[in-house]
Amino acid sequence: MKVIIVKDAQEGGKKAFKVFQKALKNGTNVFGLATGSTPLTTYVQLAASDLDFSESISINLDEYIGLQAADPQSYHAYMQKNLFRFKKFKHSFLPNGAAKDVQAEIKRYDQLLVKYPVGLQLLGIGQNGHIGFNEPGSSFTEKTHKVALTESTIQANSRFFDNVVDVPRFAFSMGIGSILQAKQILLEAYGPKKAAAVVAMIQGPLSEACPASALQQHPNVIVIADVAAAAKLKY
Ligand code: GLP
Repeated sequence: MKVIIVKDAQEGGKKAFKVFQKALKNGTNVFGLATGSTPLTTYVQLAASDLDFSESISINLDEYIGLQAADPQSYHAYMQKNLFRFKKFKHSFLPNGAAKDVQAEIKRYDQLLVKYPVGLQLLGIGQNGHIGFNEPGSSFTEKTHKVALTESTIQANSRFFDNVVDVPRFAFSMGIGSILQAKQILLEAYGPKKAAAVVAMIQGPLSEACPASALQQHPNVIVIADVAAAAKLKY
């Protein structure tokens, strides 16, 4: 893993932008996208740039189950608000959190990932080391699946909702096996709450206890972390 340490999320977003710019220039046309607060500075850079994604595909990692796309808390709404209204992709895909048939939705997403292999996958990391919504204990070979969120993730994500009881308990997520298929992976981590997850991901054992440690198996990973998130790394 290549680790780039930056001052803060602003500087990190600028570095991440450069990775997108280079990938696009080199012919990458399928971008795996993420939500949460972490990629926001990257999306600000992408939105303000003249990069042209009109011939590119975007595929998001995950979506809450039980929310309509139009729900302001959905990841559909997040992507629209933070990126897609500024940058149009040829096609943008997210799991359908309102799908009636869960198994059919999982199959649809896996087929999309076969049709559009991800060239560059953007990731954040949860405080417990989750990537996408793959919580500790997830198999490293799993494809798209339905996930029961852990209590710690529900608590962490409750800051985006009026009340913790409004946070959905389930989500669709690409699996770790799906994520590892990407040609290149870019993970961003900012703030002291991510420090334990960052050291476990990079210098801890390869273990399902830290889902992000699976990235140690991937040949082309860039981690951009700010000083606070990188504070526990030992050199
Ligand atoms: C959420 C998302 C992840 C994200 C993580 C960290 O649960 N499903 O994709 O990386 O939590 O969120 P944040 O960036 O807001 O800290």
